Amino acid sequence: MKKSHEFYMNKAYQLARRGLGLVSPNPCVGAILVDKEGNIISMGYHKYFGGPHAEVEALRNLDKKILKDATLYVTLEPCCHYGKTPPCTELIVSRGIRKVVVGVEDKNPLVMGKGVRRLREAGINVVVGVMQEKLEEFYKPFFKYITLKQPYITLKVAQSLDGKNSVKEGNKYLVSEETLKYVHKLRFYSDAIMVGINTVLKDNPRLDIRYGRKKPLLKVVLDTHGKIPINSNIFMTNGNVIIYTTNIRKKKEHDNEEVVYIGKKGEYCNIQEVLCDLGKRGIQNLLVEGGGTLSYELLKDKLVDKLILILSPYIIGGKNYLSFSGEGFTSLDKSIFLNNYFIKKIGRDILITANLL
Ligand SMILES: NC(=O)c1ccc[n+]([C@@H]2O[C@H](COP(=O)([O-])OP(=O)(O)OC[C@H]3O[C@@H](n4cnc5c(N)ncnc54)[C@H](OP(=O)(O)O)[C@@H]3O)[C@@H](O)[C@H]2O)c1
Repeated sequence: MKKSHEFYMNKAYQLARRGLGLVSPNPCVGAILVDKEGNIISMGYHKYFGGPHAEVEALRNLDKKILKDATLYVTLEPCCHYGKTPPCTELIVSRGIRKVVVGVEDKNPLVMGKGVRRLREAGINVVVGVMQEKLEEFYKPFFKYITLKQPYITLKVAQSLDGKNSVKEGNKYLVSEETLKYVHKLRFYSDAIMVGINTVLKDNPRLDIRYGRKKPLLKVVLDTHGKIPINSNIFMTNGNVIIYTTNIRKKKEHDNEEVVYIGKKGEYCNIQEVLCDLGKRGIQNLLVEGGGTLSYELLKDKLVDKLILILSPYIIGGKNYLSFSGEGFTSLDKSIFLNNYFIKKIGRDILITANLL
């Protein structure tokens, strides 16, 4: 029995999600082919960077006779330009498909409606905008990257109920085991993870992925004066490390280390220059894991796209270990206000997620 466009698009979306953390800086795309009775006859998704697109996967090895009455559901507008693979629009046209349902138009300046136009010119019935809102949200990192060539920034902060991100004897995790697993999933979905130098000096973190699916992760440290100790754990784990510094005496000391000299803005590394450089390197999803100074600086400069605040049910007290330090905002008007946020409980912790941009 035939189901709604939303039903099939949601299936395509679930497939697209399987590419999270694996296809960047390409977008995650899912495609589903449905026959005239409403049966799903094939599926595909973009599995790895440079690999076949979802449409190619879904149309593989299918008879043209079946295709002429089938409907193709695809989460993102099919591409119409030559990239690492030929245009999907030409494949769709050549296989004789007569109906295509698209989730959202691609904001990639090379596509932007041209893919849909090409299909319509070939006489294909194209419906655009099914599950639009959800997919617009899903593609935010890709759309930001492809239009501005800068990474989408997710700031993750774990804190006590009274806004402390650590304690003096920080030998235990603030958050629960369930939350740790969630954080490691966030890391998997990211292309790089960034911290300020004080976090390296105080916590000596590994910043790798230890729960769930694993992959080498690029680690980024903002280290104005080049103070990072040679034996920091960050160098001992899988994945490369970039140290952004203004100190030209800081030299590369490990095979997996790159030292990038950067301008200064105020007393710190110029964060805009850092973000441009990361964009040039194809970093689409940047996860920032503090500490308090870096978190505040990014918020102050309105650079955070998504905030993930994890509240752990402790009260720590005292004047130190603020989750957001720096000078602080001087009035409520200038402060960060979460217009819209989503709350979820993970284990004993509370997760607050909000889009800031
Ligand atoms: N609970 C959590 O989610 C979490 C996560 C991470 C860290 N932490 C805690 O946070 C604490 C460390 O935080 P922190 O506030 O002391 O330092 P931080 O944010 O880790 O590092 C800040 C330092 O990074 C350097 N930096 C270079 N460029 C920068 C820029 N553009 N913006 C901001 N910083 C820049 C500056 O030091 P230089 O000028 O010397 O280079 C700055 O003082 C630790 O206690 C750690 O346990 C908690």
